[in-house]
Amino acid sequence: MKIIETVDEFRQAYALAKKPLGLAPTMGFLHEGHLSLVKRAREDNATVAVSIFVNPSQFGPNEDYGAYPRDMESDLRKLEEAGVDLVFAPDAAEMYPDGFDTYVDVGSIAERLEGGHRPGHFRGVATVVCKLLTIVRPDRVYFGQKDAQQCLVIKRLSRDLNLGAEVIVCPTVREADGLAMSSRNVNLNAEEREAARVLFKSLQLAEYMFFSGIKDANELRRQMRHTIEEEPLAKIDYVSVADGDTLRELDVAASPALVSVAVNFGKTRLIDNITL
Ligand code: PAF
Repeated sequence: MKIIETVDEFRQAYALAKKPLGLAPTMGFLHEGHLSLVKRAREDNATVAVSIFVNPSQFGPNEDYGAYPRDMESDLRKLEEAGVDLVFAPDAAEMYPDGFDTYVDVGSIAERLEGGHRPGHFRGVATVVCKLLTIVRPDRVYFGQKDAQQCLVIKRLSRDLNLGAEVIVCPTVREADGLAMSSRNVNLNAEEREAARVLFKSLQLAEYMFFSGIKDANELRRQMRHTIEEEPLAKIDYVSVADGDTLRELDVAASPALVSVAVNFGKTRLIDNITL
């Protein structure tokens, strides 16, 4: 496994790498969810690259950029075990050198849900992913369904700017009690961790109601809110039942609708979703 910190060096490695090349972009602090992307990339490609970069431009001024968990040594061990060939781990100055002044704005799909609550977030994500796809030039790029809107934003980006990578979305990996794996879970204290089970519980409730014949999206959102609000440590950012392609809120839920939630537990903000 080769660890590469500069764009120039990655370009040289690219020239020598067997194709097709698959990339799993990450911000590190790797868990089973990330490793499932790597495993899928390993099955599909001759060369597997993973990027590790905590991207400052996707964090708002009051968000957790500084507190975002990091553990490069442990990440590299996991990637080596998973059979990764290339790790791209640039520092912030390599990705955003002095005078950097070009950003990528994806349109309406990036404005709702996470985009509405985290202004500038998807501008940062789209910019860094555009750069990663241009530097790494993968044939396939792998993302987790847990960040459903991010997947839609990146598909739009890749299509609109002809970035040439097939975007592959892999299923959300969950803990035994249903909590979606996230690097941020480590920031939950014991009570918050227990409380966070309510995320998946609310999504399961929506699924149960939908398949029992309740298609009124307001009623689904209302019952989900009610379930989450029963948990005193949970502070809701949004509860959404939206069209799976446009992310417009629905009046009547119809398959495939994206049911998604964003909830704060103390200082930790978690998101999760299911598709009906
Ligand atoms: O999902 C993430 O970890 C990040 O948003 C990504 C795609 C690596 C871009 O920084």
